[in-house]
Amino acid sequence: MFALDDSLRALPKADLYAEMHRQARGLLDGERDPIANAANLASLLYWTLPDLNWAGFYFLKQPDLLVLGPFHGKPACVRIPVGRGVCGTAVATGAVQIVPDVHAFPGHIACDAASRSELVLPLIAAGRTLGVLDLDSPIPNRFDEADAEGCAALMALLLNGSDWA
Ligand code: SME
Repeated sequence: MFALDDSLRALPKADLYAEMHRQARGLLDGERDPIANAANLASLLYWTLPDLNWAGFYFLKQPDLLVLGPFHGKPACVRIPVGRGVCGTAVATGAVQIVPDVHAFPGHIACDAASRSELVLPLIAAGRTLGVLDLDSPIPNRFDEADAEGCAALMALLLNGSDWA
């Protein structure tokens, strides 16, 4: 079974994401329930990546509304309209949002006052937007392109390895 290992946090970023990808393949193997798979990926991300205070999902429940999904971290805002905040912007634009300073992002929604930087990836399968992955950090400028690429590879496992209704 899967073991969370603090020593992974010391690896160079590319190696860390490669190891997380290996572990994620194991976690999702034989399971196609999207909530179960998202929950395990939220846990893997939160407990493996350094300097996070929140990791989780919002799912698109109506064409203009995101609703909170599985996550780790403090309780969060439940509903985010598309176009609002970092998460709603990722859905509205279809583009990854790397926010070095959340206080400088117009309309940022502060769920946890400790958050200083944020990474949001839209989850898009066969042209259909399903939701977002949202990572928050208490460290300014915590996320870069390597994080976006590493997380995108993990999200490809989730999108391809789950049955979306
Ligand atoms: N900060 C996000 C809201 C979600 S919380 O960070 C968990 C946003 O602006 O969309």
